[in-house]
Amino acid sequence: MAVRVISGLAALALLCVLPAATFAARPTLLSGRQNEEEKRVVPKPVKGPADANLRPIIGILSQPGDPAPDGQSYIAASYVKWLESAGARVVPIFYDMTYDQIDRRFAVINGLLLPGGGATLEPGHLFYDTARHLVDLALDANDNGDYFPVHGTCLGMETLSVILSSNYTLLSSYDAEDAPAPLLFTNEAKDSHLLRSLPADVVADLQNKPIAMENHQSGLSMSAVLENPALGRFFKVLSLSLDKSGVAYVSTLEGRNYPFTATQWHPEKNAYEWTPHLHIPHDTDAIRMSQEVANYFVAEARRNLHKARSIVEEDDLLIYNFRPSFTGKHEYEGEEKDFEQAYFFDSTAWLGK
Ligand SMILES: *[C@@H]1O[C@H](CO)[C@@H](O)[C@H](O)[C@H]1NC(C)=O
Repeated sequence: MAVRVISGLAALALLCVLPAATFAARPTLLSGRQNEEEKRVVPKPVKGPADANLRPIIGILSQPGDPAPDGQSYIAASYVKWLESAGARVVPIFYDMTYDQIDRRFAVINGLLLPGGGATLEPGHLFYDTARHLVDLALDANDNGDYFPVHGTCLGMETLSVILSSNYTLLSSYDAEDAPAPLLFTNEAKDSHLLRSLPADVVADLQNKPIAMENHQSGLSMSAVLENPALGRFFKVLSLSLDKSGVAYVSTLEGRNYPFTATQWHPEKNAYEWTPHLHIPHDTDAIRMSQEVANYFVAEARRNLHKARSIVEEDDLLIYNFRPSFTGKHEYEGEEKDFEQAYFFDSTAWLGK
């Protein structure tokens, strides 16, 4: 683990001396998929035309744990509002659904958001297994010319990293709770689709001001990317950030051949989370950045043509069947709250759908 503690500048230097050829190989995927993948050439999926679908729907994966009561799972409402602000609606996918129920939802959604949280990232844990199933569906869709974007935020980025490396000891610990930070862009950021799509002043703000809301204990080191070649073949590292002790971690990833993006930071918090115990950047530039990242992801989803069989099926699956709770309501001064509002799901009430 000694290699993990690597200063920001050292990590950047390391990155800069990487020969281009290190990443030139065709992405081969992993473990279960590997043999299958090696047999077929996986070209970059053809992007559907922009605005091909003007009713985009994003699936968000729920997870167990605080603030959900035992036996239920949750989605923080900030992710839902963030996607809605960019012109999408949301279908919740419960982490404990059957694969049949998940496949039915996959046929309806135009993109997948894996949110932040604290779920365990190991096979045999339902959240991980379900996330892996969804990511496999997304990879297969893209391999078959069905352009399907995926975004992971915080735990979502960690989930994608673990799935795509098949390494369950990939992550390490950081001192980055409540630590908004600027992004230190790498050489590979130059030809990033995400960064070229964002307005130039938003990219400059991300680089120059601590508006990316970082709030994590676990994270991905640059050395872990280098030690797990499958991960570096799949993802470009777009940025690093420094934790409170000055230790660098990977803060932004983008797929080389798949429309996957991942941020250790939380673009949904700036406009929609208000807990006073965190220093969430709420200034005008931070709000604009948050909106532009949502615009990027939802624009990607407008290129996907998945569709419900009927408006009735669509309505049946939308998150509007649930009501968010006011989880941020303080009982006393100084009480710590994670989310302003959250949706709770009791999957047993939904058996069979
Ligand atoms: C998993 O990743 C860690 C961090 O890079 C590395 O130390 C370890 O050797 C990897 N394990 C396997 C099985 O590749």
